Amino acid sequence: MSSSSPPDRPRGVALLGSGGSIGKQALDVLAGLAADWHVVALATGSQAALLESQAREHRPAAVALADATPLDLPAGTLRVGGPDALVELATRDDVDLVVVATGGMVSLRPVLAALRAGKVVATANKETLVAGGHLVMAEAHARAAERAATDPRDPLATALGWLRPIDSEHSAIWQCLVGEALSGVAALVLTASGGPFLDTPIDAFPGITPAMALRHPTWRMGAKITIDSATLANKGLEVIEAHWLYGMAYPAIEVVIHPQSVVHSAVRFVDGSMKAQLGTPDMRLPIQYAITYPSRRPSPAAGPDLVATARLDFRAPDEARFPALRIAREAGLLGSRATAALIAADEVAVARFLGGTLDFPGVPRLLEAAVDRFGTGPGQAPGYDDLVALDREVRAAFSSPGTAGGRPV
Ligand SMILES: NC(=O)c1ccc[n+]([C@@H]2O[C@H](COP(=O)([O-])OP(=O)(O)OC[C@H]3O[C@@H](n4cnc5c(N)ncnc54)[C@H](OP(=O)(O)O)[C@@H]3O)[C@@H](O)[C@H]2O)c1
Repeated sequence: MSSSSPPDRPRGVALLGSGGSIGKQALDVLAGLAADWHVVALATGSQAALLESQAREHRPAAVALADATPLDLPAGTLRVGGPDALVELATRDDVDLVVVATGGMVSLRPVLAALRAGKVVATANKETLVAGGHLVMAEAHARAAERAATDPRDPLATALGWLRPIDSEHSAIWQCLVGEALSGVAALVLTASGGPFLDTPIDAFPGITPAMALRHPTWRMGAKITIDSATLANKGLEVIEAHWLYGMAYPAIEVVIHPQSVVHSAVRFVDGSMKAQLGTPDMRLPIQYAITYPSRRPSPAAGPDLVATARLDFRAPDEARFPALRIAREAGLLGSRATAALIAADEVAVARFLGGTLDFPGVPRLLEAAVDRFGTGPGQAPGYDDLVALDREVRAAFSSPGTAGGRPV
């Protein structure tokens, strides 16, 4: 596939995680691109009725549901099942692009398989990069090198052409880097809204409930990432994502709090110049950019109104109140075993916080305990099987109440 040349047929898209926040918005975007992009495969976890209605509307050739609920599908729609279902969908002959909108580790194997099969991957999923960045980027660089050998000007001659970020911050940085050489970059500047507790005193943190943490001030997202935004763990995960996507050293990845969420992120250049990308908090824009890159198309997302916005505030993050940011950076510096332990622990910690067996300050405490226990030592470039085993070990160690760093909660 070459994104720069006009397609001779609609390009095929496999959407993994079609029932979630990103998945539904991706379908909205794809409906607007229907002349050039066709949904050929859909997968979701447990929402059978939603998958049936998505199948009726988008007419994919194949679907997968992770659980065994029977499906009433349009004639001719194939149901794929079993542990290899997502790999099967992502590597179909009629798939050109895989949009990854699942949470968790479930998409790491399909992403690796898709890249090996020569499919472009646009991913919102963080685990793919936080746990498996060393594996995924190696594949993206390999595909880019193959393309560069025949046409160095092809957009697919770069790793970012193959592994495209959907996360709004990374999309912003990607957009700022178009036409720039990485040698001219001094630092990447990730913005963070600061979440709902930006100005909450630290002694009130133990009283924060899931309902309070689920009220994000600017973005509407799935529950896991909303809690991660409240603890700032999300920004820590994004620092690790940025490290892998752009090959930047950790000290050159800055975080700045920007409560209005208008500046989605920025790049600082060696000559003192800074470029930023601005937009409304609407994921449909970065989803569409990742699909249509390097072209821009009209999108359902409204542009920002600078006059109505009136002011843009920035401040440094408070890592004493939000230690998850520091813990993620430290994990990144340790290596991929540590970041894999971090992201597994974060899933456990968020589930426990939502389930009422861990208080809000217990979330970063659990992350730190997991990185200390599982993230140090040799083997900092684990293979896929090692990552799966590590994920299981971390979950087993921290899933029960009373195991957040040995302190009762
Ligand atoms: N939401 C945002 O605005 C946003 C922004 C940036 C990045 N992200 C990242 O994007 C990813 C998705 O976030 P989200 O907020 O969209 O999450 P979400 O609303 O929880 O959706 C996750 C989706 O994954 C599906 N899924 C789970 N297990 C599956 C399996 N085995 N096979 C197929 N599908 C499976 C779920 O299916 P069921 O619901 O049917 O069980 C659901 O459709 C996360 O990594 C998140 O950090 C999200």
